[in-house]
Amino acid sequence: MAFLRNHMLLLVVRCAMAILSWTLRAIDHVSFALNYVVQSTLALLPGGKSGYPLILPAPDYHPAVFVTGTSSGIGRDVALALAQKGYTVLAGVRRSEDGTKLCNAFLQFLKPLMAKNVPANGTWYAEQLRRVGRIIPVLLDVTVNGSIEEAAQIVEDHLNRLDIPLAGLINNAGISGSTPMEIVSEAFMESVFAVNYYGPVKLTQRLLPTLRRNQGRVVNVTSIMSWLIGPGYGTYCASKAALHASSMAWRFELANFGVALSVVEPGATRTPIWGKLEQQLANHQRRLQNLGSDPTPLGLDHRPSEADSSTNETISTPSSPPATDQNGADSSTESDGPRGSTVKPTGSLSAPSVATRQLYNPMLQRMQSTQHLVPMLSFPTVHCVDAVTHALTSRFPKITYHVGWDTRILSAAYAIVGDAVIEWAYRAFCFS
Ligand SMILES: NC(=O)c1ccc[n+]([C@@H]2O[C@H](COP(=O)([O-])OP(=O)(O)OC[C@H]3O[C@@H](n4cnc5c(N)ncnc54)[C@H](OP(=O)(O)O)[C@@H]3O)[C@@H](O)[C@H]2O)c1
Repeated sequence: MAFLRNHMLLLVVRCAMAILSWTLRAIDHVSFALNYVVQSTLALLPGGKSGYPLILPAPDYHPAVFVTGTSSGIGRDVALALAQKGYTVLAGVRRSEDGTKLCNAFLQFLKPLMAKNVPANGTWYAEQLRRVGRIIPVLLDVTVNGSIEEAAQIVEDHLNRLDIPLAGLINNAGISGSTPMEIVSEAFMESVFAVNYYGPVKLTQRLLPTLRRNQGRVVNVTSIMSWLIGPGYGTYCASKAALHASSMAWRFELANFGVALSVVEPGATRTPIWGKLEQQLANHQRRLQNLGSDPTPLGLDHRPSEADSSTNETISTPSSPPATDQNGADSSTESDGPRGSTVKPTGSLSAPSVATRQLYNPMLQRMQSTQHLVPMLSFPTVHCVDAVTHALTSRFPKITYHVGWDTRILSAAYAIVGDAVIEWAYRAFCFS
């Protein structure tokens, strides 16, 4: 009986989420239209900007877009959607097998078009095939300077060879991770900032001359958590807030060159990032429980990229020997950092004691127990895909795209009821 009730509840939640998602798509499109009206009206006033140049695909014309972090989640779906719309997608991946998987997924989309391309009704399908773009994987680890340089050169080589402009750079690659601020390690902070902040900034700097020449666009994927700051997520929130702030300044600086920069700010979106976070919390939990008997800390949960094995210079390299914590263990690797880091810690401060770290055990336990609800209550990636596509293809791209019901409702709630109520809600629903 309880089994049936749970399944019914799940079904109801799924249906409700699907209806909310469809409604949200309709609202998003109304908000795109309103934005067009507002910006085109402002363009008539002194200081107004009369839109940005457009680089749109057409049959047999497939301008390039460079998307980072396309092995999974939002980046993968954005890459597939843009290729279907006719762009040549230069897809940043950290391992070549992820590039192959992405190309295979795109082939699945092409198969029906190719199979039906028979003489009898071939014209329509042949026309469709002339419209679709392609996917070219590019190896990129955004935390490795040499990898950024190599990837940028590969991108420029493709642009020259195919004689197409760079219509956009989508800085999507990112990692999440949760550690309370008192016990967060230097390695953890550096790895999160390396991927979420320094990586996109450096890659954009490197490709800006090309983007400026082509009047292409930049889209930075931040997060609702750049302003909805939750306990345990201080470092992740800080990295996304930093990217948001830089983006806003950069946007002004680039406008005069005809280069638009937009920020896409997703709320909870159904992607593998939540599974990775759950795994990280579980590792954290296990390590905190074992600290007394097993002082060996877990290292950074690092899934190596092909760029790791090269001799490329990392963003930060160790300047002194790693510090040891009170158990004599290497504190520089003690945080269950997110996978994706190639940043080496520069240990020198003494690590928090075992007792201090264990103070946070109950909080991490509560976080872990609510974590599994997020994927169920989150929205599909299609909303992020719509936002990125609009940012690339509208004469008046929005400055910030608030993606998802949570982002829209909570930003309004912040403005209306203030942060004390939001903090109370956090405590009541997540941490009581
Ligand atoms: N999902 C959400 O609810 C949500 C909400 C707000 C914001 N966001 C943001 O949306 C973006 C995409 O997240 P997602 O949900 O799609 O997560 P995801 O499925 O985990 O995708 C993250 C992507 O970033 C790549 N990446 C990680 N470290 C990298 C590095 N050092 N160099 C290059 N690529 C790297 C990953 O590659 P590997 O597979 O090789 O690790 C993966 O392709 C992130 O910036 C995230 O912060 C997501």
